[in-house]
Amino acid sequence: MADAHAADTLKLLHIEDSPLDHDLALAHLRRAGHRLQALRVDSEADFRRALVAQEWDVVLSDFNLPGFTGLRAQEILKDSGLMVPFILVSGEIGEDTAVSAMRNGATDYLLKNNLARLAPAVEHAIEAGQERRARQQADRELAASRQRLSELAQHLQTSVEMERAAIAREIHDDVGGSLTAVKYDLAWIGRHVGSPEVQQRVASALETVDLAIEASQRIMHNLRPAILEQGLVAALQWMASRFEKRNGVPCTFRTSHETMQLPVGVPLVAYRFAQEALTNISKHAAASKVSIDLSLTRGVLSLEVEDNGRGLSSADLAKARSFGLRGLTERAGTVGGWVDVSSGAAGTMLMLSVPVNGGLGGMRSDTPRFDDDADHDPSTWGAP
Ligand SMILES: Nc1ncnc2c1ncn2[C@@H]1O[C@H](COP(=O)(O)OP(=O)(O)O)[C@@H](O)[C@H]1O
Ligand SMILES: [Mg+2]
Repeated sequence: MADAHAADTLKLLHIEDSPLDHDLALAHLRRAGHRLQALRVDSEADFRRALVAQEWDVVLSDFNLPGFTGLRAQEILKDSGLMVPFILVSGEIGEDTAVSAMRNGATDYLLKNNLARLAPAVEHAIEAGQERRARQQADRELAASRQRLSELAQHLQTSVEMERAAIAREIHDDVGGSLTAVKYDLAWIGRHVGSPEVQQRVASALETVDLAIEASQRIMHNLRPAILEQGLVAALQWMASRFEKRNGVPCTFRTSHETMQLPVGVPLVAYRFAQEALTNISKHAAASKVSIDLSLTRGVLSLEVEDNGRGLSSADLAKARSFGLRGLTERAGTVGGWVDVSSGAAGTMLMLSVPVNGGLGGMRSDTPRFDDDADHDPSTWGAP
């Protein structure tokens, strides 16, 4: 192993009050084939100075020096954040001291009467240090890459919502406007023709137009829930009662406030959260009771959706092709919130929390328009 290091100069900082012991240590290392650049220090001040003066491969330290100790040196090294391996070398080190030094992060310890172990100990310490640095670097890269991925996912969630809003608006303006015009014209024709045959055709065409209007309203609603214009509370109320009707499962909705002042973007995130939670309940939970709780306390909006169904496991959450719950977490992140999942034999509880005081820009009522143009109200057209 010595060969691997022989080519490099080993930069060694030695805390040692005895020049003789210092020379002895150097001799052992040279004999093992190391080229050395070594500095001996014997006081705290000199040690601190040496630490910042240059980079070191390893710190060797005596245990007891006049006015300084190896353990103190170790603390200083630890506090410095420098990841230099630290080896205690002492004449009188006891087992207890050695153990506490190792616990404190010393890489190794050895006795002065066993310096034959010095070179292997130094080599091992340096390798371990390199591995540790590589691991830390990998951890940092992994964390950065996770962060980028999460930013991308949040960006995608946001752009999907914007795209949906744009499509809903186009359906409203282009399709909706034309269908309404056709409906008026048909009604006019119906009033102005005498032939019962034509009137019947007109009536049937009107029915078809009504179906088309209904369909596009449904599509628009799925794209962009118009009900949110009446506020989050009203939207959740509506969602709960629709869930109950469609699934035949009682679904209660409770709220701490009848209206809430929420920052822009939060109502939609909360709405999508409840939507996914309820869809999951009808798909997976086999529940007989569902409750939705909305509250705003101490500046934090909480939305809880709870069922008494079969519960979910961590394996369910890790399903490769399931993005519902993962998407909710990223979505919550777009407004500075987070999602908690808890589950057991008694069912599943999903909770969205969003701090809503400060840091999110201007507060608005929870009935923001989808855009600033009051003419675009997708909930109103098609009803002559
Ligand atoms: N309320 C629930 N009760 C029981 N299991 C659930 C519930 N919600 C989710 N799960 C389980 O967690 C998995 C992941 O959910 P999700 O991320 O929404 O993906 P998906 O619904 O597309 O499968 C589901 O496949 C299901 O097994
Ligand atoms: Mg789902």
